[in-house]
Amino acid sequence: MVTTSSGMSDIVAGWKSEGHSVAFVPTMGALHQGHGALIEKASELADRVVVSIFVNPLQFGTGEDFDSYPRRDEADQAFLRERRVDVLFMPSVDEVYPPGVVITAAAGPVGDTFEGASRPGHFDGVLRVVKRLCAIISPDFALFGRKDAQQLFLVDTMVRNEGLPITIVPVDTVRAPDGLALSSRNAYLSDDERARALAIPVALAEAERATTLSGALAVVRERLESEPGLTIDYVAGVDPETFHQLDEDSPLREATLIVAVSLSTTRLIDNRRLHFPQ
Ligand code: PAJ
Repeated sequence: MVTTSSGMSDIVAGWKSEGHSVAFVPTMGALHQGHGALIEKASELADRVVVSIFVNPLQFGTGEDFDSYPRRDEADQAFLRERRVDVLFMPSVDEVYPPGVVITAAAGPVGDTFEGASRPGHFDGVLRVVKRLCAIISPDFALFGRKDAQQLFLVDTMVRNEGLPITIVPVDTVRAPDGLALSSRNAYLSDDERARALAIPVALAEAERATTLSGALAVVRERLESEPGLTIDYVAGVDPETFHQLDEDSPLREATLIVAVSLSTTRLIDNRRLHFPQ
């Protein structure tokens, strides 16, 4: 395990001088098979794999779960030992944000919608940490899950806008056998809430059979609204290329249907790419 930024940069410099390529998987820990899929893809793409575990205070709002976010260092390290990971980077807050180092990153208008509307400043915090970690690690590839579709979109946009020499690689959502998307926050759910959360993948699967976006949105809303104890934050269709909200009635070939719900104090998100017959 490496805990200092200079130590991490030195290791990567050594690899690069030997001609090795580097793939980076940023995480906040409480690792599960979703993270595992990113690591597996990373090891297929590059000679060396770095995984970071850093619960980034900048992406949590006041009243959010920064203090209670699951921290499972020993289990995480055991998880990583079973996988092809060359270095685990676990820096302190001061190593990531040393006084005097200014990291600017702004998510722009898309960063204020959906997840960003519910969590003001969240995506600026995500982009700042991703930019800083990438500056320390200088990876050739950085891997992100499609489960966090808006995050993936904004990171990819930042990398392209700033011309950073990194390839962002998306990885499909890993689900439990019953369909619920794996998430570190699933640990907060009681058995009863876990059962109710299944309404999300069920609703998204039903949406796949719809022939229009408005039909898909109606099916999802109806399914989620009929689940007691589950509150919808948003259900929307967005353009996969721009992440702009789509007019429900416009005829389209495809859309990404995005969903956020709360079960008690736990917020869950999921999404599905939909294709409509023309
Ligand atoms: P975290 O929630 O730990 O997720 C780390 C990465 O794993 C993200 O790219 C996320 O999309 C991916 N991931 C999570 N669950 C997944 C699943 N079920 N299937 C596939 N991929 C999944 O996302 C973050 O941390 C942070 O915002 C971070 C990018 C590390 C910046 O702090």
